Amino acid sequence: MDAVDTIGWGVLAPGRIAHSFCRDLAQVPGARLVASGSRSRERAEEFAAQHGGRAHGSYEDLVADPDVDVVYVASPHVFHEEHTMLALEAGKAVLCEKPMTLDTGTTERLFAEAERRGLFCMEAMWTACNPVVRRLLALLGTETHGSPRLVRADLGFPVRRDPADRLLDPALGGGALVDMGIYPLTFAHLVLGEPEQLRAVGTLAPSGIDLEVAISGRYAGGALATLSSTLTAATPRTAAVATDRGLFTLERDFHHPTRVHWQPEEGPGSWLEGERPVIGQGYGNEALEVQECLRAGRMTSELVPPTQTISVMRQLDDVRRQIGLEYGASSG
Ligand SMILES: NC(=O)c1ccc[n+]([C@@H]2O[C@H](COP(=O)([O-])OP(=O)(O)OC[C@H]3O[C@@H](n4cnc5c(N)ncnc54)[C@H](OP(=O)(O)O)[C@@H]3O)[C@@H](O)[C@H]2O)c1
Repeated sequence: MDAVDTIGWGVLAPGRIAHSFCRDLAQVPGARLVASGSRSRERAEEFAAQHGGRAHGSYEDLVADPDVDVVYVASPHVFHEEHTMLALEAGKAVLCEKPMTLDTGTTERLFAEAERRGLFCMEAMWTACNPVVRRLLALLGTETHGSPRLVRADLGFPVRRDPADRLLDPALGGGALVDMGIYPLTFAHLVLGEPEQLRAVGTLAPSGIDLEVAISGRYAGGALATLSSTLTAATPRTAAVATDRGLFTLERDFHHPTRVHWQPEEGPGSWLEGERPVIGQGYGNEALEVQECLRAGRMTSELVPPTQTISVMRQLDDVRRQIGLEYGASSG
């Protein structure tokens, strides 16, 4: 961190999500995009021309950049372990895109390594940092809004891309579950906590990736969730939380809301916003959370704690086993 206490960000793998993230980062107070690092210098230069900062022609040079305080790992999931390790070994804090890795054991090892080195590490689960989601969570359990009994959440859209695209490629950890299904699962986890039981069905493509997945969950006290995701159809992309006092509804896209609707059992409904503004699309709020943690000297985030990331990873492992999904098949 420099004299004026700005936080220097380094973007590792300047692909699709890195562009969205950096558009929001430009609106985050105290954030400075210091550098981006690509496997290709040309791509890094194109990215830097658009968003600012220096361009590095390798990930190694990016993590070695002395002005980078925190590395944003934005490569496809299968590389998150390698690239998070690279940043940690260079002594950098890490914000790693979701899913943190493709299995529980690897995710646990990364957090253990960050802890051992005394470095901050967080999964980029922006939904958990969204101010509207935080407001909803704060209202649950109150006398007025009641306790959650049923959660419904869905995320899907038809993916019409080249079969070599990350989302469809088994070798790059493609499929609906870890790309989209992680959001309904995380949302249910935020609202209801650790599931006691998940039951899942899925449809696999000939390539082996999952095209769609439907999950039923049972949580403490008998609360239930129905969750779905797909790569093949235009689904509602909404969520609802039914309590014993009324109903919260999150519009499309539920995983980065700008408001939430509350309909009490009796009387008129109302729209609620967050206590803080949504920054950009909401990626700004996760960046802000990282910065607040770094400034406070915290190694982990309370909004996206490792326990939550690891629990959801365990749930993904469980669902994956139930639907017969295996990663690592060759993409040819
Ligand atoms: N939070 C969200 O809303 C959100 C949304 C979309 C995606 N994501 C997550 O972000 C991650 C990246 O997704 P994306 O859609 O941005 O991916 P992408 O555009 O397909 O790829 C990101 C970058 O990864 C680098 N890369 C390194 N090795 C690669 C390889 N072998 N094949 C392809 N690319 C490789 C490439 O950059 P260089 O070659 O230039 O280094 C590429 O531009 C995923 O884990 C995904 O789940 C999150």
